[in-house]
This record gives sequence, C-alpha cells and structure tokens, in this order.
Amino acid sequence: MITTFELYLDRPDELKLREAAPLPALQANEVKLKVIYGGICGSDLRVYKGLISYAKYPIRPGHEVLGVIVEAGSAVSYPVGTRVAVFPNTFCGTCEFCQSGKTNICKHKQPLGVAIDGVFAQEVVLEAKYVVPVPDAMANERAILIEPFAVTVHALKKANITKGTTVAIVGGGTEGLLSVALALHLGAAVTVIDINPAKLALAKKLGNVAALQPHEVKDQVFDVVVEAAGVKAAIEQAMQLVKPGGAMIALGITGDPVNLYPIHIVRSEITIYGTIIYTLKDFAAAIQYLNDPAFYVDPIVSMIVPYTGYRQAFADALSGKYAKIVLDFQD
Ligand SMILES: NC(=O)c1ccc[n+]([C@@H]2O[C@H](COP(=O)([O-])OP(=O)(O)OC[C@H]3O[C@@H](n4cnc5c(N)ncnc54)[C@H](O)[C@@H]3O)[C@@H](O)[C@H]2O)c1
Ligand SMILES: [Zn+2]
Ligand SMILES: [Zn+2]
Repeated sequence: MITTFELYLDRPDELKLREAAPLPALQANEVKLKVIYGGICGSDLRVYKGLISYAKYPIRPGHEVLGVIVEAGSAVSYPVGTRVAVFPNTFCGTCEFCQSGKTNICKHKQPLGVAIDGVFAQEVVLEAKYVVPVPDAMANERAILIEPFAVTVHALKKANITKGTTVAIVGGGTEGLLSVALALHLGAAVTVIDINPAKLALAKKLGNVAALQPHEVKDQVFDVVVEAAGVKAAIEQAMQLVKPGGAMIALGITGDPVNLYPIHIVRSEITIYGTIIYTLKDFAAAIQYLNDPAFYVDPIVSMIVPYTGYRQAFADALSGKYAKIVLDFQD
C-alpha cells in the first residue's frame, strides 16, 4: 500500500498535510487521478481564512487541478494515462438551468474545496463527467490555468471584444491578468487598474498595456470594463469608466453593498453583465486558446512549489505579491 498525502483543514487557519485514507473502489462512472499540479486560488485562501460563509469544515481545499487518469471505471471511455483538467463545480444536469445549458447557475451546484472536499491531494476520485482531457502538446504550466481561465473566457464573451475595442480591467489578480491576456489576444487596447504596483508590473509583462493605480485614472472611458477586484471601491470606479453604450462585466464577488447611479446607467445605456464560472463549453474554449502558442500567459504562473511547501505557498499567495502559485503534487 503506497502512502499518499492530502491537504486538510479541520477548521479555518489550521491547514495541514496528512496521510490520505485509502480511496474507495471506483464506481463504473468514476476515474482515479494522480494529481500533477494544483493551483492556489483566492477562494482557497478564503476557505483557509474562514471568510466564506457557506464553506463547510472539515474540508480538503483545492479546485484547480491537473492530473492523469490512473484507473477508470467500467463505463468510462477515457483510457488510463489521459491527462485531464478537473471541472470543479458539480451540476445536476436536470434542473431548468442545466436543461438550458447553463450548468454554471445550476440550483444544486457545489464548488469543490468549499462546500465539498476538494482536490488538493496526490490522488483523487471523481465522476468522469468532471474531467476534461488536455491536448498532449500543452505544457502542464499552461494546462493548470484552464480552470481559472475558463472563468475569463465565459466573462469576456459577454461583450464583443475585437480589434481596437477599448477595455479596462479593474483588478489585476489571476482573473484580471487572464482577462488582460485574453483582451490583448483579441486585439483590444487594454488598460489595467490595480492598487498594487506588483500586479501592474505583472500585467505589463503580458504585452502593451496601460497600467494605472486607481487615482491615476483621469477622465478616460472604455467600451468594456471588466471588474475583477470584487471590492466596493473598484466596482464603483469600474461603473464610472464605462463609455456611453458600453458594458461592464461584473466578475469580482462581494456581499457588500455598492453605490450605483441609475441616472448614469440609464442615460448612458450601460449594460452590466453578471458572470459566474463557466460551462464545459468554456472549458473547451479555454483549452483551445491555451493550446495556441501565440496566446501569451507565461507571467501568470509565478511559481511552482512541491506540495510539502504548502505553508509557505499559502503565505506567499496571501501576500498579494504574486500571480498564480502552483503546488506540485508529484513525488
Ligand atoms: N465570477 C466568477 O465566476 C469568479 C471566479 C473566480 C473569481 N471571482 C472573483 O473575482 C475577483 C478576482 O479574483 P482573483 O482570483 O483574480 O482575486 P485576486 O485577489 O487575485 O485579485 C484581486 C485584485 O484586485 C486588486 N484590488 C483590490 N482593490 C482594488 C481596487 N480598489 N482597485 C483596483 N484593484 C483592486 C488586488 O490588488 C488584486 O490584485 C474576486 O472577487 C473573486 O472572488 C469570480
Ligand atoms: Zn479558482
Ligand atoms: Zn442543475
């Protein structure tokens, strides 16, 4: 019996590495993955810090995972050895939203690593419907971005971003940086706004962007504004930056109330799009973009560290100095 390890939170703040219990025998529709990489996401940090009201403890965190199928149930068509990304939000497939293809707003959706055990472990078992094969040519370092990037793909397709569209991205964390990368790839003229100069420096590494702190923004307006900070001040600023006839894509999440001015929204015919996660179609589109070597995202993975270095990795992720920090779960 080979010992494998997993990260675990008995309660907020008490993250530990422990020996994993033996996995149950596979059901016909399940696969067992040997995990390659796990990306640390803002929501993992919030589960760690006890900041998500619907999080359930004890819990194994993690939802951004790349792995390889090492065992497949009898009804699974993927062969052993297939490298896969994990689709980490369950959906029922039968509610009115799932029936219309909107599995991202399924009534019974459960996010892995928040409400049910996640995937920060060396081995995990999942239903095969939640794994998506990754093309052989795609490096692990790009493939680990599939999940967070699928969020961006779903969001940015709400508005028509093409060559010359002016796009402001408020918040340059992982989602903001991925939005910068995609908007640049689509030919947009991109401005990124963040309070953190380290994030602005990272955004500049992605290409020709204007990078500003919030107070440096003068009276510019933009065809499309992507709000990817999820804080009151950023959302309020984002609204002010939308050109008449333009759109704001609300990606950042907060439960705090914010001030909106109907006179501005109504008179200027501004559209606000809410956007939440993705569907399997967005995963497919994300894979297609990431499989194109001309799509430049390299600076978005800041470091890849062995899973045993999880404490420092979570501390670094909390520091706000880095883009994506990835745990390597291989021995
Ligand atoms: N809608 C979705 O499906 C979805 C999916 C993933 C994440 N999110 C949300 O999107 C937001 C961004 O996610 P992330 O993982 O990139 O988070 P992150 O913490 O990595 O990035 C947030 C960034 O916003 C910046 N920021 C803070 N205050 C600001 C301000 N006033 N003006 C400009 N920038 C400011 C921070 O410096 C940071 O760089 C979060 O609110 C997260 O919950 C939403
Ligand atoms: Zn994530
Ligand atoms: Zn459903």
